[in-house]
Amino acid sequence: GGLSPFENEPMVDFTCKDQREAFPRHIAEVRRQLGKTCPLHINGRDVQTSDLLPSINPAGPSEVIGLICQAGATEVEEAIAAAGAAFPAWRDTAPGSRAGYLIKAAQAVRRRLFELSAWQVLEIGKQWDQAYADVTEAIDFLEYYAREMIRLGEPQRVGHAPGETNHYFYEAKGVAAVIAPWNFPLAISMGMVSAALVTGNCVVYKPSGLTSVIGRHLVEIFSEAGLPAGVFNYIPGRSSVMGDFLVDHPHISLIAFTGSREVGLRIIERAAKVHPGQAKVKKIVCEMGGKNGIIIDDDADLDEAVPHVLFSAFAFQGQKCSACSRAIVLDGVYDKFVERLLSMARATSVGPAENPAFYMGAVADDKAMKRILEYIEIGGKEGVILYRSPVPSEGYFVPMTIIGGIRPEHRIAREEIFGPVLAVMRAKDFEQAVEWANSTSYALTGGVFSRSPEHLALARREFRVGNLYFNRNCTGALVERQPFGGSRMSGVGAKAGGPDYLLHFMEPRVVTENT
Ligand code: NAD
Ligand code: ALA
Repeated sequence: GGLSPFENEPMVDFTCKDQREAFPRHIAEVRRQLGKTCPLHINGRDVQTSDLLPSINPAGPSEVIGLICQAGATEVEEAIAAAGAAFPAWRDTAPGSRAGYLIKAAQAVRRRLFELSAWQVLEIGKQWDQAYADVTEAIDFLEYYAREMIRLGEPQRVGHAPGETNHYFYEAKGVAAVIAPWNFPLAISMGMVSAALVTGNCVVYKPSGLTSVIGRHLVEIFSEAGLPAGVFNYIPGRSSVMGDFLVDHPHISLIAFTGSREVGLRIIERAAKVHPGQAKVKKIVCEMGGKNGIIIDDDADLDEAVPHVLFSAFAFQGQKCSACSRAIVLDGVYDKFVERLLSMARATSVGPAENPAFYMGAVADDKAMKRILEYIEIGGKEGVILYRSPVPSEGYFVPMTIIGGIRPEHRIAREEIFGPVLAVMRAKDFEQAVEWANSTSYALTGGVFSRSPEHLALARREFRVGNLYFNRNCTGALVERQPFGGSRMSGVGAKAGGPDYLLHFMEPRVVTENT
């Protein structure tokens, strides 16, 4: 039978006792499984290497989540060869059958929803609700791309000239390298991997070093779904050792990358070079950072604006490409907004994500902590620190920080900090606010709180970002409802979870028959 229409997986509901109590139970359960060695997975087999990298709990760095075998050039070569060998049969598998594997994988994830969430609480410091949302988004990608492939899998007749039939159809590109970030460790990995797979490409997947244990779960999920050997290969590794090798490899036809601008642009540049033995021009799907602003109009409903800005800026410690890092507030409401934002911030506290009493947790690692603290120092010189929360002394915690008096030319208004630092800017009118909102090199998300239809219409036209939200938070895009991704230096416009996404993973062909 056909699949039912796509629906988003329901969000967690902590008013249900069952769901509330599931978290501590699964965190305790996951704790009993910590510290294991995580092998690579190549051609259907686990592969051990002697180079191990520990993955740790950022809220308590002495807790080792897992020891991850690191791939070097040899293992990358093997994984690409395995993917290449599996490719012809996988490409020629019917689109509906490929989609079937994704549906099975979605069932496997759904069965383990709380467990997979618990791993995120411990490996990367996501709050309960944030971790759960990451796992439901992974399910959504699987369910949505499965249906999208069925839609796109049928050859289309094009043109209507008498005496000929023209068929337009899509085919996989070859071996795809999927290079993923740590901040949505299951969802973004699963989104890129499932899109590559369902379109008929074989995958070599490199998770981030900070979340390779979560990345390893993709192996279990796709094994459970019965994916043939070699179609999906898991190769965690140090980017300094194997990153360029993977990107440069002549047998890679497609690279799906989500991460920082610096690395994304490097990949685009390197992948442009054709190496001996290379058959195809590499296609790059590249999603990068953001410097997102929310405009607070002088007629905004502050009961809404204040909690939504706080959440957009500080949920998961501001470590989302979609996070709000600039509140652009109209002069008429600036003092009132800031006063209310500060009083709400003061009512929150910072501590380990496994305890739901804390609004904010630890940042990803020691490097992130150092970088963010440097930015707080810079911000303190450029503007005025309005709020700096207390933090626990152990673990990679940085204060929730709100800095006022920031102008568009300041560094903390331009550079992606990727942490819990919110710059507050005073704009003289709505036109200036929109101009400032657009004044960074990024164009990912944005928000406007306003009751004025004229101002919302102006923002709709001129606030040029990939995902613009009116009168709500600017994070948490849902598959199908808010296809996600930006332009300018935020990305190439591929829109994950949207109707054009899979097209980037395939090449169109046309067959014309003279009849
Ligand atoms: P990162 O760029 O440091 O790393 C991303 C991935 O690239 C990791 O797997 C890393 O190991 C790998 N990598 C690093 N150097 C490489 C090289 N030379 N060759 C090949 N691979 C290499 O990013 P991150 O710190 O993991 O993630 C945070 C960044 O991701 C932020 O800038 C954030 O805005 C961005 N992000 C964007 C989106 C989006 O959809 N636009 C979503 C999430 C995160
Ligand atoms: N898709 C994620 C969000 O919208 C990044 O927050």
